Formats: sequence, C-alpha cells, structure tokens
Amino acid sequence: MPSMLVTGASRGLGFEMVRQFGDDGWRIHACCRNPAGADALNALATASDGAITVHTLDVGEPAQIDALAAALRGTPIDMLVNNAGLLGHAIDEQAAGAFGTLDYENWMQVHAINTMAPLRVAEAFVDHVAASEMKLMFFMSTHMGSITDLAEGNFYPYRSSKAALNLLVKAISIDLTPRGVRTLAVHPGWVSTDMGSAAAPVTPPESIAGIRRVVAAYGDDQTGRFFQYDGKELPW
Ligand SMILES: NC(=O)c1ccc[n+]([C@@H]2O[C@H](COP(=O)([O-])OP(=O)(O)OC[C@H]3O[C@@H](n4cnc5c(N)ncnc54)[C@H](OP(=O)(O)O)[C@@H]3O)[C@@H](O)[C@H]2O)c1
Repeated sequence: MPSMLVTGASRGLGFEMVRQFGDDGWRIHACCRNPAGADALNALATASDGAITVHTLDVGEPAQIDALAAALRGTPIDMLVNNAGLLGHAIDEQAAGAFGTLDYENWMQVHAINTMAPLRVAEAFVDHVAASEMKLMFFMSTHMGSITDLAEGNFYPYRSSKAALNLLVKAISIDLTPRGVRTLAVHPGWVSTDMGSAAAPVTPPESIAGIRRVVAAYGDDQTGRFFQYDGKELPW
C-alpha cells in the first residue's frame, strides 16, 4: 500500500486528496493546523480502519515540521504532498493584490506559507521520501505562477509566491536526482474551494480525480515538471 503525507488536509483540495487517495487504499498522514476542528477529516480517519492518521501541523511553524518528521522517522513516504496555501485575500476582492495597493506584511505571510514552508517540509521529510518506492514530492502550484503564461497583473503576492515555488520544484529536482527523489508541480484548475470561490468551474472531486491520473502517469524517469490537473503540461 503506497503512503502519502498531505499538508492542509482540513478542507478544500487537501481534504479531497485524502478522501480519494484513501478510497484507493493509500496509507495517509493527513496534516492540519487544528485537528480538533477538522470534523470531516476526523470522520474519514475514523472510518479508515487505521489507514488515515491525522496529525497537527501548521506549516508556518518550523518546530512542528521538525517534530512531525522526527515522530515519523523510519516511516517511508511515497508521495509528500505540499498542498497548504494562502491566497492572501478573498479572490473577488476589488484590488486583489494589485500594483499600488500592496500590503507587504501580508505578502511576507503568503511567501512564508506558499514558498518557504514547502521547502522546509521537503527538507524535513527527504529521508522518508528517499526510503519509499515512489520517491515523489508533489507541490500544489498554480498557472497563476507561470511567467510564460502571464497575461494579466494583480495577485502579486500569490503569483510571486507560486512562481518562486515553481523554481524551487525545478531546483529540488536537480539536487535530489542522485537520491532518486522526484518532484512534480501541479495546477489543480480553478477549483470551487474556499480559496477558489463558488464561481470556480472545477469541483474538488473533478480536480483530484484528474490529479490522480497525472500522478499515475508520471513515470519513474520524470522529475521537475509542471502539469495541469487534466494532464496538459504547463510552461514555467
Ligand atoms: N482553489 C483553486 O482554485 C486553486 C487553484 C490553484 C492552486 N490552488 C492551490 O491549492 C492548494 C489548496 O488550496 P484550496 O483551494 O484547497 O484552498 P482552501 O480551501 O483555502 O484550503 C487551504 C488549506 O490550506 C491550509 N493552510 C493554510 N495555512 C496553513 C498553515 N499555515 N499550515 C497548515 N495548513 C494551512 C488550510 O488550513 P485551515 O483549515 O487550518 O485554514 C486549508 O486546509 C493551495 O496551495 C492553493 O494555492 C488552488
């Protein structure tokens, strides 16, 4: 049974990943900031016969990352899923992170969670991933972080945090090739989660069903690439 660790599993795409990969029989370490308030996730874990374990993890707290990595020392993790993320403001907010309106404190927080935290998690769990069969580090990115595809401004904090994440996904793929560890960045589509809003055209079940196909098709020789949930490869 393959295993995965997912950050931000309390709701949205992280929760749906736990639900669908759990249905597929994966052993899952589902991480969230506040397990006591994660009723739906706890219900999945209870029904999973021990296959899903819920852990406390705020990815903005380095000590919590290190503590969980130590608690799971010696446990192989086939797919490390860096999913937790912040937009920084409501998606339909008028001046959504636009030039001339920027809140730099907020920007630092978005970078801490979207860019630096995934790298901390990758560093802390590299031995767990290297000890597994699949050896895959998965990063939830967005086409909004693609420089090549950029057609409009605004959302500066979010776009820049994910563009930087994309660079890290590529850089980590180079550094970890000698250990056989691979990376994959995925754009989940514009999805109707709290972040994506009800206006989004893709549902979480549709997005994660597509992501499961992308993961299944990602060969052992592939690393450092960027795909959309429907299988289309995206430019950095
Ligand atoms: N929805 C979209 O259209 C879309 C498009 C492209 C990319 N994405 C990416 O997909 C990922 C998931 O987004 P979503 O749509 O599922 O968003 P969401 O519904 O807003 O959920 C965000 C998740 O991240 C968690 N989180 C936030 N800060 C955290 C922290 N410091 N430590 C641990 N967990 C934290 C939240 O936990 P709490 O419940 O504790 O707040 C929640 O579980 C993000 O990386 C996002 O950038 C989403």
